[in-house]
Amino acid sequence: MKKELTNNNSSNRRKEMSKIFISCALPYANGPCHLGHLRSTYIPADIYARYNRMKGNDVLLVCATDEHGTPIAVKADKEGKKPIEIAKRYHDMIAKDLESCDISLDSFTRTTDKIHYKIAQDFFLDLYGKNLIYEKEIKQLYCENCEKFLPDRYVEGICPHCDSERARGDHCESCGRHLEPTDLINPKCLTCGHTPIIKESKHYFFRLSNFQKSIEEYINSNNSMPANVKNYAKNWLKEGLNDWILSRDMSWGIPIPLEGAEGKILYVWGEAFLGYISSAAQWSRKTGEKWEDYWNDTALHFIGKDIIYHHALFWTSLLEGYGCRLPTNIIAGEYLSLEGRKMSTSQNWVIWVADFVKKYDSDLLRYYLTINAPLNKDTDFSWDDFGRRINDELADVLGNFLHRTFTFTKKFFNSKVPEYKNPNDDDRAFEVDIEEIPNTVGQLIEEFKFREGLVEIIKIAKKGNKYFNDQEPWKAVKEDEERAANCLYLSNQLAKTLAILLKPYIPNKAEKIANIMNIPTDTEWNDSKLYLEVGHEINKAKPLFKKIEEETLEKEKEDLYKNLEDEENTDDNNKGNIDTNNDENNGKNNNKNDKGVENMSDQITIDDFAKMDIRIGQILEAEKIEGSNKLLKLKVDVKEKEIQVVAGIGTRYSPEELIERKVVVLVNLPPAKLFGVKSEGMILATDSAALLTPDESEVGERIR
Ligand code: 2FM
Ligand code: ZN
Repeated sequence: MKKELTNNNSSNRRKEMSKIFISCALPYANGPCHLGHLRSTYIPADIYARYNRMKGNDVLLVCATDEHGTPIAVKADKEGKKPIEIAKRYHDMIAKDLESCDISLDSFTRTTDKIHYKIAQDFFLDLYGKNLIYEKEIKQLYCENCEKFLPDRYVEGICPHCDSERARGDHCESCGRHLEPTDLINPKCLTCGHTPIIKESKHYFFRLSNFQKSIEEYINSNNSMPANVKNYAKNWLKEGLNDWILSRDMSWGIPIPLEGAEGKILYVWGEAFLGYISSAAQWSRKTGEKWEDYWNDTALHFIGKDIIYHHALFWTSLLEGYGCRLPTNIIAGEYLSLEGRKMSTSQNWVIWVADFVKKYDSDLLRYYLTINAPLNKDTDFSWDDFGRRINDELADVLGNFLHRTFTFTKKFFNSKVPEYKNPNDDDRAFEVDIEEIPNTVGQLIEEFKFREGLVEIIKIAKKGNKYFNDQEPWKAVKEDEERAANCLYLSNQLAKTLAILLKPYIPNKAEKIANIMNIPTDTEWNDSKLYLEVGHEINKAKPLFKKIEEETLEKEKEDLYKNLEDEENTDDNNKGNIDTNNDENNGKNNNKNDKGVENMSDQITIDDFAKMDIRIGQILEAEKIEGSNKLLKLKVDVKEKEIQVVAGIGTRYSPEELIERKVVVLVNLPPAKLFGVKSEGMILATDSAALLTPDESEVGERIR
């Protein structure tokens, strides 16, 4: 006899449990969350956590706000506030953002919590005591007017590599290179504008180079580590690990707990990781349970790809030095761009979570950001694509299948699951699909293939619609009631299965489906394999997924492009990742001797390059785009066809001077709309919008 799902069914089935420590990268407390944060880190971590809880595993999901570092201190100076006030403001906002998207954290604390200071200082002392941290005098910039050293974001100047002005002490936005403050030409104190002097200062260095071998072994032997993390880590390991500076001369941060280290604090990347531990420790204090039991069983870090270096190499070395178990795995989500263009918080080219959830159900966001691309690929948020997926997949496929199942059950079977007798071939095949789907999706989630799992769910809902159409229960009910009953019996079984499998992905909608189906909301994963009893009564159907109107999407795009218009100083056309305005970036590069050159960009394979179809084109028509000084609409002949491209070169070239000019064009980008105008490619140009001049090539020739 088949096991049935009833209201008391989901208890007493716990088998061998794992304890799983899951952390989400700590967001800097100097801005709210945007969609990029959710996509790379919080949604994947939450799906994994929810799934594992449903499998009967014991999960501890932790996070905290990262509250030190110069961006927060600089922001505080600018606003005439204390850094802690800034941090508190954003901690509260971020907490709300995460809650609004149902990120089911067990603990969300702060790196300014007392216990965090203690844990970080003890950790430092332990490594210092083992001679894994040493002191060294180095040259630093010092402002005599402010009487302080100027690390990282406290100083700006001209980039020695690309001459761009306003490069920061740690990073040049324009060429993307890592910098040391002393590299800057004509440096100026950001607080008072004075030119700093160079002064020697003692600093603390971690012997990262000691860990080359053991980290190599850790990375190479981890067979379940996602390929993106492994490849990045391996490439960096090839370059060799250099010792890492662990201190800063500033007041905002955790004091170095040593005599003679007055005025020095731990570099934010030297303590932020311990936020995972201090968050867990606070959870332990509250619950009386031991977080160590979780860490020592399975420890997983969910992060964004920009901090793979820090986690895979630096954090693991620190842990190894401390004598602690290394994380079981590191899962890194790649970048999200917006409407084909790199996100930028400084240019307001961004969608904030709080703004989004005011207008749309957060489950729509969870759905879209998951289904839109595999975690290990860069991807794009576009309003049109968002609308298309919600309308076509959630409303037309999933919503339609559920709705017709519920309304037919009510209309023809008095809201009760009908009997299942004498199944035909279609019924049997569909039954097999329903039986297999929980394992298929579960397996994919276990492999961190969240998108693929969700795609399987949509696929089976599509099959459900086809089955429903083929069985024609609306006709059959008059001629062959048994066939109609079988169809509705199985459709209800699939609806129930979906209500359970969707829980990690879109928990609110899943709960609504469960309520309509009159099944418990605290079901476990394997309950999806149990059957609804014949005669089980379901509730009245309610609309689950509303379509998003074309006008709504147009309005969203208009509002977004207005932001860009206000700024008018961006020139990257179609690519890229979130800008790093928001963070204490590139700590990973602090250890490079040959600063800059090897850090220009991430390495790619020759296959990645081969994917780009770059051609010589000739501009046939050029005109300004209304409302923008910078964007031009171009018609470009690439021999096989003519394409329309929107290019951000209008501040450098007039439309007239571009006619007949040969250009280099990337032609295999998916079409995007920029300023409401379709763009089918990207004209290659430098950061200063200078076109490349392929004088000796023929139109249509491919560059390889
Ligand atoms: O890159 C960032 O946003 C950092 N605040 C992440 C820190 S994660 C870990 F180290 F705690
Ligand atoms: Zn100054």
